Amino acid sequence: MRRLIPNPGETTVSEQLDSYRPWEEPHEERPFVATNFAVTVDGRATIGGRSGPIGSDLDTEMLIRLRTRFDALMIGAGTMRVERYGRAVASQGQRERRERLGLPPDPLMVIISGRLDLPWDAPLFADGGGRVLVFTASEAEPPETASGLGVVRHEGKVDLAAALSYLREEHGVRALLCEGGPHLHGQLWAAGLVDELFLTTAPKLTGADAPRILEGPSLPGPTELELAWLLEHEGELFARYRRG
Ligand SMILES: NC(=O)c1ccc[n+]([C@@H]2O[C@H](COP(=O)([O-])OP(=O)(O)OC[C@H]3O[C@@H](n4cnc5c(N)ncnc54)[C@H](OP(=O)(O)O)[C@@H]3O)[C@@H](O)[C@H]2O)c1
Repeated sequence: MRRLIPNPGETTVSEQLDSYRPWEEPHEERPFVATNFAVTVDGRATIGGRSGPIGSDLDTEMLIRLRTRFDALMIGAGTMRVERYGRAVASQGQRERRERLGLPPDPLMVIISGRLDLPWDAPLFADGGGRVLVFTASEAEPPETASGLGVVRHEGKVDLAAALSYLREEHGVRALLCEGGPHLHGQLWAAGLVDELFLTTAPKLTGADAPRILEGPSLPGPTELELAWLLEHEGELFARYRRG
């Protein structure tokens, strides 16, 4: 792949991410928060209801390698229902590499759910390995799962700022990667809780009947972003934006 900005030249996903150390930038009251999305050129976050058909294998590599750089990963219940996650860092070698960097071998998997209507037979819960913490507004009891499962209850809906503070204080989370989906992402930006956005733009169009990367509440105003890097491979653009 080519790095277009800054310092144009040849690069690789691992070269770009090897010096990326978001855990060194925690806020006092919450973790450093980055988000990662893939979109079509018409700005849509799904094709046929899924994110998978948007990006290339290189985008998947970016996603997998990004996961190795954070203490915790966060997703919304809608994304968990559709994507049916398994263990986030599946490779033993990558988990050992995380430990050498001073990170827990498995990132803490954080799920935000109003109704606790989750696919309990998905590999993340059923296969064991890894820890899962669900923030929910539901009083329902989850079933027994093979993975270590914790539940934190909020009233009405999950207060995302309070959830992030809890993760910082109670679980020592210094850096968290949110992988969506659009409704969770929209709330995080509206509440000013995001520091960085990794955005892959695939050279594809899909049409209007699909969500954008931000759904739900409006932002208080235009949010300025700074382009930290821009990479390209076969027409696919990999941008990293920091909050301006
Ligand atoms: N292109 C990409 O990079 C990308 C990335 C991720 C996802 N996606 C796609 O996005 C789609 C899912 O979109 P989505 O917007 O529905 O997903 P989502 O944001 O993951 O999930 C929405 C759900 O999360 C829960 N939730 C969010 N905020 C909450 C809060 N403050 N309090 C309590 N619960 C809260 C609610 O769950 P309950 O229903 O349990 O109440 C809500 O229905 C899927 O098709 C997925 O493939 C695309």
